[in-house]
Amino acid sequence: MAEKILLLNGSPKKERSGSLLLARAFLDGLTAHGDFETETVHISALNIKPCLGCLTCWAREDATCVIKDDDIPAVRKKIEDADIVILCAPLFFFGLPGTVKVMMDRLLGMVNPYYGKPIPADGSSLHGFTKPHPGQRFVLISSCAWIEKEVVYASVFSQLDMILGKGGYLALTTPQMNAIVYHAGGRRLAKMQADYQKAGEEYAATGTVSEKTIAYLARPMFSDSVYQLFYEKMWRKPNGEYLLNAISKKSN
Ligand SMILES: Cc1cc2nc3c(=O)[nH]c(=O)nc-3n(C[C@H](O)[C@H](O)[C@H](O)COP(=O)(O)O)c2cc1C
Repeated sequence: MAEKILLLNGSPKKERSGSLLLARAFLDGLTAHGDFETETVHISALNIKPCLGCLTCWAREDATCVIKDDDIPAVRKKIEDADIVILCAPLFFFGLPGTVKVMMDRLLGMVNPYYGKPIPADGSSLHGFTKPHPGQRFVLISSCAWIEKEVVYASVFSQLDMILGKGGYLALTTPQMNAIVYHAGGRRLAKMQADYQKAGEEYAATGTVSEKTIAYLARPMFSDSVYQLFYEKMWRKPNGEYLLNAISKKSN
């Protein structure tokens, strides 16, 4: 039977998302030699109401949310059924985009209630799934601007460690993404896509992606000086003057 892959795209750019280009390349590598069924869902195209904070999902026998008239019941079923869940998302203000967080809050019923116990010392999930799907795997594919991955992704990694457990997910990140997409005729983008495709093949063959590959995908593709020039150009008008907000930032 085909393995089900759910690709959740958390970028508001939907099909124009750079992170999605990387996730699709990873999927090309992953699905090349197996039997897979892939579904893509753009989170920002869904109707998702914010959590009401009632916690009644943890009191209800089927752990469902009190809100029934939006897209969460359907998305939750897709996540529960998927063998591999890939969340692709940009880094927004050093966290996941708000739309992704709103969706996650509404999925609280998927994990076990809090009983006031201390956090597990072995790095496992602080909650665990209510209805675990044996062998289910989670992948985060994210792109951002800043190069210093361990600093800028600290809150995202910390959040996912607590929800899925340390080692409970694979995280692939790539910096300088806007420059990769818009600079130099797409040569670097094609290279990065090829690298993600190889990472997908590695994931298919070994069930994981090595630390070496993860670090390679997170490498800067531009030198500091070239990258800074990209932004110098980005914050200027065609006549060379700085855009207003960029002037105030520069003079700080
Ligand atoms: C609202 C907003 C906040 C952002 N915050 C960060 C950030 O905290 N750190 C960072 O490195 N990049 C940040 N970026 C840049 C995006 O992460 C980056 O452009 C990303 O590659 C976009 O991916 P996408 O094309 O898949 O949407 C931000 C962009 C936006 C629009």
